[in-house]
This record gives sequence, structure tokens and C-alpha cells, in this order.
Amino acid sequence: MQKQPAEKHLWWQTGVIYQIYPLSFMDSNGDGYGDLAGILSKLDYLKWLGVEAIWLSPIYPSPLADWGYDVSDYVGIHPLCGTMEDFDRLLAGCHERGLKLLLDFVPNHTSDQHPWFVESKSSRENPKRDWYLWKDGGRDGGAPNNWLSVFGGSAWERDEASGQYYLHSFLKEQPDLNWRNPEVQAAMLDVMRFWLEKGVDGFRVDALWHVIKDSHYRDNPLDPDYVKGEMLPYERFIPAYSGGQAELHEVVGLMRRLVNQYKERVLIGEMYLPIEELMGYYGRERDTGLHLPYNFQLIVLPWKAVEIFAGVNRYEASLPAFAWPNWVLGNHDKPRVATRVGAEQARIAAMLLLTLRGTPTIYCGDEIGMRNGKVPAERERDPVGRLLDSGKFGRDPERTPMQWSGGAGAGFTTGEPWLPVGEEAGRVNVEAQRGDEGSMLAFYRRLLALRRAEPALQIGEYVPAGQRGNLFAYLRELEDRCFLVAVNLGVTRARLAIPRHLDVTGEVVLATEPGRVGGQISQYINLEANEGLIARVKPCD
Ligand code: GLC
Repeated sequence: MQKQPAEKHLWWQTGVIYQIYPLSFMDSNGDGYGDLAGILSKLDYLKWLGVEAIWLSPIYPSPLADWGYDVSDYVGIHPLCGTMEDFDRLLAGCHERGLKLLLDFVPNHTSDQHPWFVESKSSRENPKRDWYLWKDGGRDGGAPNNWLSVFGGSAWERDEASGQYYLHSFLKEQPDLNWRNPEVQAAMLDVMRFWLEKGVDGFRVDALWHVIKDSHYRDNPLDPDYVKGEMLPYERFIPAYSGGQAELHEVVGLMRRLVNQYKERVLIGEMYLPIEELMGYYGRERDTGLHLPYNFQLIVLPWKAVEIFAGVNRYEASLPAFAWPNWVLGNHDKPRVATRVGAEQARIAAMLLLTLRGTPTIYCGDEIGMRNGKVPAERERDPVGRLLDSGKFGRDPERTPMQWSGGAGAGFTTGEPWLPVGEEAGRVNVEAQRGDEGSMLAFYRRLLALRRAEPALQIGEYVPAGQRGNLFAYLRELEDRCFLVAVNLGVTRARLAIPRHLDVTGEVVLATEPGRVGGQISQYINLEANEGLIARVKPCD
């Protein structure tokens, strides 16, 4: 067996990232919206939980058409979130506690209220006209081509005054920037520099795959596998030309070269891509691409042992030698994991997230097992919910307020929360779970503590140890420390014989079933329904 080289690992490799959806995390002033001072007041909780970094979804000035992902000033703070002084206090508060802070960087589009777009729209001759993607109508007098917005309808909006169309991959209030224009590149790199100079520890780069489009604006081909009603209307076409073009790697290179000028900052990219394509975004060699192209395998794959195990192995096998893996279970765009896979399997999911090889990102609230909130039509906030079938595609349910305690505002606000508090807040909340050893929160804390204490779980090799039916297992090994993780993704008892060449006699150190801790395991792993365990075993050789 190959041993891990004695290489120094950085905080973003060994640490755990915690995603905060700022408007829903903690409201300090009773206006019903979460804010930066609220986040500051919860840093001690995050420290206690045991994460190393926080990533904040957008906190910038914005008309909030897409709840902050429509930025009207990249170097300011939205009044709902607070002030730049609040930000500085938050950043200092993080660093004092040894926490890192990542911001969301939104390069693909601005708000239509951004001064750049206001200028660009003002006339065909305006110097900023070419900062966005303007085109004449197609031959039939309609949109320039068949590209669709991810959020429904054509990706083109006609501007009456000039008669031209501008491109918007998302809402019409989110016009796409022209990243082939060097002035745009320079202005956006300046934005990154502004925050890096302030001392932020890196960025999660939003919708990165969309940034470069085909320069000939060719029509996208129809997707023969499209299932109406099941898939987003956008998925009717394969987005072969409306994103992901070769020059995108150059844009990533620009960002990376800038980030490389600062010490230990991280560049993470949001891209929902098949594994093989995703790997390309690590760059051809070290230090040229993203540190972490987000890996959404655990979100997009069906929750079945055979699929998940194969997905993990495929991902591991595809990684370039220098690349560092990462794992995600949920975010502000996807149904909550506890809703998707059920409360019991959510523990198995947490075990995978925190013991697979690679940097985990936890979505706020998942550590207490929050499920999707119920948001009645009259309280809907997400534009996707309004534009498409909200029951199927709306994102409000995963954005309901963090549940700190029972009671009216769930400890999130003393006012009227901007989204309704989840129905289960009386039971599923931090306060109630803090003192309960059997709670999801206690389980997360145990996992995080074990991970922190055991370098094998942070940087050890990943060795698949077999799968049968609903059960699969793997080892994490570093020098003389080795752990076996075994999980049952099914609702019936399951059994797996670990291959003879791996000696896995050892002792259970953490389990979904507390009674198993301290027990012995051997070559034959037996797990009850929804059960998972971690055992310390003999190293493989
Ligand atoms: C990303 C964000 C999502 C947003 C979209 C447009 O996918 O995660 O919330 O709506 O980009 O910016």
C-alpha cells in the first residue's frame, strides 16, 4: 500500500467549511433578516461545533431579485446585513478565534441596477456597452439564439430603447458580464483584490461554469433525454455553447494567479459537472486551476449504496495527482439532506461527509438535522419558485431561518422572520440538542472532534473495502493509524465480508448506535438498518 507523502497540508485541506446563508442565520436587530452582527454573535457556537472556516453567501448591496446573487456593488455591504465596520468586526472575530472567512464571488453577472449595466444600457456607443453581452435579434426578429435562462424562458431580454438583446443566464435582472473584455477582467480582479487585501481567506465562486460562452453564439442542441416536468425547463437543451468553453480555464487561471499572490487563500468553484469534466478545473498542473471545484456527487447521485460507492471510487480515481478532493451534502439551492434522504440516513450522510477523503462543506442547519421548511405561496421569496413549479424547484424551503431555540422566532429573530420558521423548530433546534447526547448536533460534534483528533481522517489515504447490497465500507489510513468506516444505506439489516487482504479487526470508536462504541469488529461487518460505524483497525500493512 502506498503511504501518504509527508507533505504539509493546508487549512482548507484539513479543515471543515461551514456555509452560512446570511439572511437566515441570525438577526441581531429584529428586522427579520439575518445580519453580520448576528453571525459574529454565533462564532463561539461554530467554534464549539468544531468547524474551521465559514463561507458567507452574498452580503453585498443588491436589489435582492435573486437574494443577493444580483450584486449592485461588489465592494460594499447590504444594509440588511450591516455595514463595512460590521464586516471588519466579523472578519477580526473569525481570525481571533482561528476561523477562516470565505466570501461568495459572483463573476458571471451583476444586478441590472449595477452602475456598470446602467451605463452599458444607456446607449450602443457607451464605453461600457461591451462589458455585457449585447446582440441584435435573430433572423426571425426574435431572440439571437435558443439559449435558455437557468430560471426559465429565453436567456435574452430585449431592450426597447436600443433594440438589442442582452444575455442573462439567470434572471433578466442578472445581466451576464462579458469576460472576454479585458476591462471587465481587470475590474473583477480588482474586486477580488479588494477583499483579499482586507484579509478574507478565499472565495466560493458562483456559477463559474457559465462565465464564458461560445463566441459564435451557436444554438444549443436538444437533449434527447429531457423529461418535461421532472427536469428544469432549461435542461431541454444541452448547454454546449452557453457555458463551459475552453477559455474558461484562462479566466480561472487569472483568478488563481491573483489568489496565489496571497498566503494560503482558497479558490472554490461552483460547477455542477460530470466528474471527468470537473477534474479539468483543477488545472493542468498544481497552482493553475481551482483549489476545489465543488464536488456535488453526494447531492446528485441517487441515495443507494451501489451508486454512492461507485461515485466515490470514480471521483477518487479521477483526481489528478496533485488535486485535493472535497464533498458537499447540501446548500441553499438544493433540498435539505434530511428531507432528501430522511432523518436517519442524514446521520449516515454526515458520517460520509466527514470521513471521506477531502474537504467537507456543511450547510448551516444540517448539523441539527433541519428539514425543508414549509413556505406557503403568499410568503414565497425565491424567484425560481415564482417562475417555475415552486413545489419542485423552489429554494425557499432550504433557506428558512436557522433554528436556535424553540418559540416564535426560533431564536433567530425577535421580529417577523423574512421566511417562515420551520414547523419542527420546537424540537429541532440548537438549544434543545445541545444537552442531548443522542441528538444530531451531538453526533456532528463527535464526528468533527474525531476528525480533528485523527490526521488519518483528514489526510489519510482512501481505500475502498467493498460493497454488498446496501452496505459499503472503506478505510482511511495514515502511517500507523487506520480507520474503517462502514455504512448501511438501507432499511434492512446488512452484512459485508471485508476482503481477506485487509485486516480490519479493531474497536468501534463512533457509531450511529451508541451501544456499539467500544465493541469489536472483525472481517464480517453486520449493520442494522440505517446504521453506520467508524472503527479503529490495524493498519493494512
Ligand atoms: C448559483 C447560486 C444560486 C444563484 C445562481 C445565480 O447557482 O448558488 O443561488 O441563484 O448561482 O447567481
